[in-house]
Amino acid sequence: MINENHKKFPEKPLLQVEIGNYMQATGPDRVVKNKWLWRGMNQLGIQVINVAEDDIGEIISQGMDYQNSDRFISANLLSKESGMPLLKPYVIKSISLPGNPRKFRLGFIGLSSRNSYIPTDEAGYVWADPLVSARKWLPELRQQCDFVIALACMPAKDAVQLAVDTSNIDIILTGFKHQGSGLPATINKSSLIYAEDEGRILGELRFLVRNGEGDVKPLNHILTRNVPDDPEMAAFIVRAKEEISSRQNEIAKGNGIGSARAETITVSNYIGSQSCAQCHQAAFDAWAKSKHAHAIDILKKEKKEFDSSCVVCHVTGAGQAGGFTDLYKTPQMANVQCEACHGPGREHSLKAPAVKMAKTGPEYCLGCHTKGNSPEFEFVSYWEKIKH
Ligand code: HEC
Ligand code: HEC
Ligand code: HEC
Ligand code: HEC
Repeated sequence: MINENHKKFPEKPLLQVEIGNYMQATGPDRVVKNKWLWRGMNQLGIQVINVAEDDIGEIISQGMDYQNSDRFISANLLSKESGMPLLKPYVIKSISLPGNPRKFRLGFIGLSSRNSYIPTDEAGYVWADPLVSARKWLPELRQQCDFVIALACMPAKDAVQLAVDTSNIDIILTGFKHQGSGLPATINKSSLIYAEDEGRILGELRFLVRNGEGDVKPLNHILTRNVPDDPEMAAFIVRAKEEISSRQNEIAKGNGIGSARAETITVSNYIGSQSCAQCHQAAFDAWAKSKHAHAIDILKKEKKEFDSSCVVCHVTGAGQAGGFTDLYKTPQMANVQCEACHGPGREHSLKAPAVKMAKTGPEYCLGCHTKGNSPEFEFVSYWEKIKH
């Protein structure tokens, strides 16, 4: 969308940056996804990328020349051997406006928090405390530029702490995993601007120049369906989806390199909705009319039915013993069936009513109806549509 605006005002310089964790660090389909993510970053012309915990291992394994790059930065990713930054801790980008002799120097420093299961023991790098690294590099960066901008891949509370503890960052662009976003805020001397994951919100800093002095205005663009796609990017996405889904399909079939072969499950604790129907016909009929009964179809339409980051909420018992694995091995566990909410029912179906089903209730809905994936969710009206 920014690109669209930019096409309307081509004389205005545009600089695009990435806060970090853009790559996928787990799952057998990550290689093909990351390949396309990287192509996308190039197609968009992203100029500065903060390398965060999900990214570094993938950047190394893709064989990129990350150490000599002017795009990759991190102030708190250190070489295990030397204790010095593995990448450039910051970069400075000059922009000049048409008809204005003055150049504005924007300094970007990369900072990230760690909170994951990705082991770094053998990888040759360590993560330092981002606050300590910020204090170390900010003074020299400050001297060299007009605006200091931190790309802060960290939970909101850490980004606030960064603003409180330092007084020489003008703008903190922040976002982290699935934390959601807030409105732009000013804390201490820093403007905090939040982005959201999966490209739901695009942050923009609009630089205005008055009387030779620069001023900056933060904006958040919420990318709803009403925001038109850039035709070139849309065509790119179609090609990417095509290759990614065919690779996911291969992996699921077990033909691909590095594929996960079917584990042999002798008896599953899940029995499927059809088996509940013999004793709970009314509940079954209500369920069969609900969208839950067809939740996998919508993924098929999007060619995402083999995408492990999508299926978890569109199937039954994902990741549980005997639950959904993929559409080849466990097609009977597709869709949000009775046992997605009630838990596995084999014991109960054999010994009811002596063996009761587990308790369920509104809190179970929230596991799938998250803010990101179901922004309008509210129990009473939603339950009304599926009550049984
Ligand atoms: C955390 C659980 C969760 C994950 C992960 C998830 N979904 Fe969903 N999805 C839902 C829920 C819940 C709804 C129903 C939302 C509603 O109607 O309020 C939904 C609805 C949808 C819809 C129909 C409504 C719409 O927005 O058009 C599509 C399409 C969809 N999901 C695709 C995907 C794709 C593609 C992925 C992977 C990138 C994905 N989902 C991952 C939970 C999830
Ligand atoms: C989306 C989640 C969900 C799905 C899918 C679902 N249920 Fe339920 N079910 C609930 C909730 C929530 C309740 C209400 C629980 C309560 O009030 O304690 C409930 C109630 C029930 C009850 C009544 C329990 C009682 O104490 O009276 C039965 C029986 C039942 N479900 C069976 C089924 C069967 C059979 C299916 C599949 C055909 C099914 N459910 C699918 C969430 C679900
Ligand atoms: C062989 C018959 C039978 C089958 C199969 C069966 N149930 Fe039941 N279910 C019962 C009986 C009987 C009760 C107790 C009804 C009552 O007390 O009114 C019951 C009660 C329940 C309850 C209320 C809580 C409880 O345990 O008392 C839920 C929820 C439930 N069943 C869900 C399911 C689900 C989901 C399935 C399929 C996975 C299933 N049942 C399969 C017979 C069955
Ligand atoms: C295992 C994940 C999961 C759980 C748990 C779950 N849902 Fe859903 N729900 C979905 C998905 C996925 C969709 C979208 C299906 C589609 O559009 O094809 C959906 C759609 C719905 C819809 C249809 C919305 C519409 O636009 O008509 C309602 C209503 C709903 N869920 C209610 C509930 C309630 C109430 C609960 C808790 C009792 C619940 N769901 C628990 C995954 C889940």
